Amino acid sequence: MAGNKTFTMIKPDAVRNGHIGAILEQICGAGFRIVAMKYTKLSAEKAGEFYAVHKERPFYGELVEFMSSGPIVSAILEKDNAVEDFRTLIGATNPADAAPGTIRAKYATSIGENAVHGADSDENAGIEGNFHFAGTEMF
Ligand code: RTP
Ligand code: MG
Repeated sequence: MAGNKTFTMIKPDAVRNGHIGAILEQICGAGFRIVAMKYTKLSAEKAGEFYAVHKERPFYGELVEFMSSGPIVSAILEKDNAVEDFRTLIGATNPADAAPGTIRAKYATSIGENAVHGADSDENAGIEGNFHFAGTEMF
């Protein structure tokens, strides 16, 4: 059965471009509840660890450099069918392919700098939430 939590990051491009408020408004307007949230910056080491699944991909170096290039907002979100519904809300990885109105269609600049992250499974949502919020009290 689908779980009710997902994990997200507003990536450095969207933070730099001033889209934190609009993105959070769209997320909350779509029925997600914020369970935990912080404004933080990943070191290159932490970004590399977070995206370790992509280690062998040609874009890994660029991805790690980008994800550690500035502050991000990370959050755990709650809603029925959270993982799948959040992936629908953000749209395809490449903003050129993202459905109109999705967060990536509106705020992403390229396939690499694509405004937001969304966990791709219940298992990864748990792992990623724990990576950022282990020991944090949840509300
Ligand atoms: P994310 O994990 O960030 O939510 O993105 P995703 O599932 O839609 O895409 P994924 O395949 O997991 O890729 C992770 C991130 O790597 C960057 N990327 N760059 N230059 C490229 O061809 C390329 N492909 C992927 C993007 O930042 C993507 O979100
Ligand atoms: Mg992914």
